Amino acid sequence: MSSIEHVLEETRTFHPTADFVEHAHIQSREEYDEMYKHSINDPDGFWGDAAENFHWFKKWDTVLNKDAAPFYTWFEGGKTNLCYNCVDRHLTTWRKNKAALIWEGEPGDTRTLTYQELHRQVCKCANALKSLGVKMGDCVTLYMPMVPELAIAMLACARIGAPHSIIFGGFSANAIVDRVHDADSKFIITADGGYRRGSVVPLKATVDEALEKCPGVEKVLVLKRADNAVEMKEGRDIWWHDAVDAASADCPAEELDSEHPLFILYTSGSTGKPKGILHTTAGYMVGAALTSKYVFDLRDEDTYWCTADIGWVTGHSYIVYGILANGATSVMYEGAPNHPDPGRFWDIVEKYKVNVFYTAPTAIRAFAKWGDEHPKSRDLSSLRLLGTVGEPINPEAWMWYRDVIGGGRCPIVDTWWQTETGSILITTLPGAMATKPGSAGLPFFGIQPQIVSEEGEPEDGMHSGLLVIKEPWPSMLRTLYGDDERYKEVYFSKFAEQGWYLTGDGAFRDKDGYFMIIGRLDDVINVSGHRLGTMEIESALVSHELVVEAAVVGFPHEIKGQGICAFVSVPADITPTDDDMGVLRNHVAKEIGAIAKPDQIRFTEALPKTRSGKIMRRLLRDIAAGRETTGDTTTLEDFSVMAKLREENEA
Ligand code: WTA
Repeated sequence: MSSIEHVLEETRTFHPTADFVEHAHIQSREEYDEMYKHSINDPDGFWGDAAENFHWFKKWDTVLNKDAAPFYTWFEGGKTNLCYNCVDRHLTTWRKNKAALIWEGEPGDTRTLTYQELHRQVCKCANALKSLGVKMGDCVTLYMPMVPELAIAMLACARIGAPHSIIFGGFSANAIVDRVHDADSKFIITADGGYRRGSVVPLKATVDEALEKCPGVEKVLVLKRADNAVEMKEGRDIWWHDAVDAASADCPAEELDSEHPLFILYTSGSTGKPKGILHTTAGYMVGAALTSKYVFDLRDEDTYWCTADIGWVTGHSYIVYGILANGATSVMYEGAPNHPDPGRFWDIVEKYKVNVFYTAPTAIRAFAKWGDEHPKSRDLSSLRLLGTVGEPINPEAWMWYRDVIGGGRCPIVDTWWQTETGSILITTLPGAMATKPGSAGLPFFGIQPQIVSEEGEPEDGMHSGLLVIKEPWPSMLRTLYGDDERYKEVYFSKFAEQGWYLTGDGAFRDKDGYFMIIGRLDDVINVSGHRLGTMEIESALVSHELVVEAAVVGFPHEIKGQGICAFVSVPADITPTDDDMGVLRNHVAKEIGAIAKPDQIRFTEALPKTRSGKIMRRLLRDIAAGRETTGDTTTLEDFSVMAKLREENEA
């Protein structure tokens, strides 16, 4: 628990400047405390008021219904549409001609879409989807580069009530197959390719490979982006420019029930296949929009940039839905942070005069390593607020971010949340409270986090333990798609009696009530802020003939936060070579995607196990980290296995 010792020693606190506070939505701790208290004492009142700021075709009857807990419903009886609230609503205001999206492609091409133009494109896309046969409730899979059409396609789906399932463009064909099957998706939107670090990622070819195993897919809409050669399958594949350009720009938004499914987003769990996190319309809208407003302190004149990929939840909530619902201007960048050189992000900040910048610790650590000269040679004076998300940020990286990127003047919001939570749950509100390096902060309105012991004893005061959320909140997941039982099992079974939501994270609460997130307690590895289940990687490895058994653990990695180390046992008659390491790494990349490639593969005759046959991951974690194994090893089945692994470590 060295990270806890860290925070105990951390005495630095930083207050926002008087200038920042003066213009902030929430300007003092007292103001926050009062609003927070109200949100906890009267959640229906608080969230009802928040929901009044949106367009409803029909107002809700009940704010929160707990009857079927843990299957909560929010704003029951109401009818609304998230696309309408992100786009149409602004057209009757001065924002009609305001930039909604400012986009830059990796090769340097740019596009700006005003709210009016975005509306036109979204309506045309929605009509094109309808003409392909997409009906309300049908799941549409999106496998696209970071181009405006991705946001357009999401909004078009939301407009017609067709839930989308976005698959990150770095995933492999097999990952697409699993997700398309699980969601029973008959429609795919993709592109010929996208740009990444100067080369073209052939997205359509990957879709083609996947679809050999997905006969249920009826139509594939293909955007021309990179102009690479693609095969178009007669009757199945349609060009975006044919279908969308020809479609009418008149497409009224469907009046959807508050709980109408909005999207499925697959994320790793500790066991089995990725989980299809299901979010619904109204609660997600209110949560994503309210957090956007207060956490990023959004102002109409702001240029806001979140560097995440829309394939992850951060892009869903904080590039598209939460930001556009506020009528703000969202910057979107297609490519790599270091192409053509490590100053690319800072070029973008300088060029568009970005005011609010939201990125991940892994990126911050990489930039720090690439050298201060890149940010220092650009004008970053437009920045007024910085944010981070995805994994714990070490105080050194936090300080670098503050000093070198923020010029010592910008507050940093360290935002803790999950794909499941839909929106930010723990952070600091930048004008209202001080920040501390490495600490996320206090609960957002309506959120009741609690540190508890393994046995469910609440630990108040300064304590570390399991982090649970005691009461439901509007943007929480509603279920795991097609698997209500697993939803209950994963999130609500450990503390079923109390009804608490189990986050899977460990946390520490300090003397001021600030929460510091320590990291996952289950077998999930957080690589560059992306969640990967050790189990998924193990299954991928075991599917290779060279592998008898595999155990995957995380280890501290300077840039990525955590790296992946795979312990692999091979058949007795085989002596693995270094080439085999490459073979296995590529095998995992093919099965899951390049992000899941193990950093290290360690061959071993056998894996250390307890007498009952459980792999002793704790020991493997120590070995992977190069630490002395201190824990109890008396239950080890075969001491020699550990001795050998340790010897190799020293060699
Ligand atoms: C981790 C990303 C520390 C955490 C939005 C969580 C964090 C998992 C932070 C969710 C943070 C996210 N500090 N850890 N500010 N933000 N995490 O679903 O372990 O991709 O459970 O959602 O990332 O990852 P996910």
